[in-house]
Amino acid sequence: MLNARLLTCAGFVCRGGHVCDVGTDHALLPVYLLEQGIAADVIAADIGEGPLQAAQRTITQHGLDGKIRTILSDGLQKILPEGLTDIIIAGMGGETIIHILKDCPFSLKGISLILQPMTKAHLLHEWLYGNGFVIQEEVCVRDDRHLYAVMHVRYTGDIAVPDAVMCYLGRMDMAQPDCRAYAERQYVQLCRKRDGLLASGQDPAPFAQDAETIRNYMEDHNELHRTKYL
Ligand SMILES: C[S@@+](CC[C@H](N)C(=O)[O-])C[C@H]1O[C@@H](n2cnc3c(N)ncnc32)[C@H](O)[C@@H]1O
Repeated sequence: MLNARLLTCAGFVCRGGHVCDVGTDHALLPVYLLEQGIAADVIAADIGEGPLQAAQRTITQHGLDGKIRTILSDGLQKILPEGLTDIIIAGMGGETIIHILKDCPFSLKGISLILQPMTKAHLLHEWLYGNGFVIQEEVCVRDDRHLYAVMHVRYTGDIAVPDAVMCYLGRMDMAQPDCRAYAERQYVQLCRKRDGLLASGQDPAPFAQDAETIRNYMEDHNELHRTKYL
């Protein structure tokens, strides 16, 4: 059984889709997508020979050799876009995901992107908004003690200048308890950074302002939530 993080990624994949899983590692997600009848076929891509061999073993064990193709590729460099409906990039740092999207050799227009950064989601949000991508939906998933952002993204070419809420919370819905918990953690991290700068005699203004914006936003939305549900 997949963990909650990968299950959430799978939930965004189009039915009958032609999928590429970038950074597939053991190919757990491609196998799940085929065994559940979600995807028609999947490319399992990875930059490392070791992970790709592990992926091939899993695929063979599950009798899915004809349905899942493994490709050794740095990001999307060796992937052919024809017919692709969905690209999943999960389990990597936000900066690596940015590099993979930035260096993609084909247009991402019309392809559904499922992105799941392990770290620095705020940098990924900021880059997406500033480079013509729209976050259509975003959820927060709790796996063990960790909270992860999972976003469903499309390229439209519309460029936005993101504010602190867009950078730190993306499209998360504050009516969802895990999204509120995620927002709270972002707030605490910003406060720690602010206090770290203060303690070393530096100007805390950028982090202080962002922390204040996030706190105000959370207060507004917690109030909305209470009014709606209690
Ligand atoms: C922690 S595993 C994540 C596996 C799975 N996607 C998940 O979310 O559980 C990260 C994988 O990404 C691969 N990876 C890292 N950078 C990559 C890149 N630029 N292109 C393709 N794969 C990459 C690594 O080799 C590794 O197998």
